[in-house]
Amino acid sequence: MSKTIISPSILSANFMNLQSEIDAVEKAGANWIHIDVMDGHFVPNISIGIPVVKSIRKNTNIFLDTHLMIENPEKYIENFIEAGSDLITFHYEACENKIVEIIKLIKSHNRKVGISIKPKTEPEVLFPYLKDIDLVLIMTVEPGFGGQDFIHDCALKIPTIKENAPDNLIIQVDGGINNLTAKICTSLGANSLVAGSYIYKATDYKKAIESLI
Ligand code: DX5
Ligand code: ZN
Repeated sequence: MSKTIISPSILSANFMNLQSEIDAVEKAGANWIHIDVMDGHFVPNISIGIPVVKSIRKNTNIFLDTHLMIENPEKYIENFIEAGSDLITFHYEACENKIVEIIKLIKSHNRKVGISIKPKTEPEVLFPYLKDIDLVLIMTVEPGFGGQDFIHDCALKIPTIKENAPDNLIIQVDGGINNLTAKICTSLGANSLVAGSYIYKATDYKKAIESLI
């Protein structure tokens, strides 16, 4: 079985000490860093953006998993790539009619491409794109905030995607992931876990990360 990719979300990190917060999770076994970008339109919250990605890139070599929860993602994708994002995940709901061109845009810069769906979006909408992308991100909470409860029904989308996807597609889940919900998701076929509050609120990041696998 392939290894589970652990991607701590820095949304729950202490932003005053971002460098040490990132170094600490990397040392504790994180594979990627998950960066939640929110615009106050696609989701009812505002978080961080391009300059922060740039600063992080200058100070670490870890793979930067960038989750764009923004309207019109195509306007900003090249800025995020230039800033240092390795993977750009955008939302299906933000650009239903522009999916093919956005995939092409990201691929033209040799970066990995992911598409995310919110809890109320059916997984079947992604079927036409599965062979052309690297990752599907299944939201297991309504996007916008860390620390929410896992929505169990969303995990049932994992096998639907897996059964219809090429073997190398990464299936990532995000929202309410802890030691128990992580196991539910991996047993259903997820191979990448985003966790924000569960890792960053823990006193021992290493133990928290190990308990997810
Ligand atoms: C929510 C974000 C998540 C968030 C997860 O909109 O996409 O990445 O940080 O936080 P937890 O793990 O606390 O649910
Ligand atoms: Zn996220």
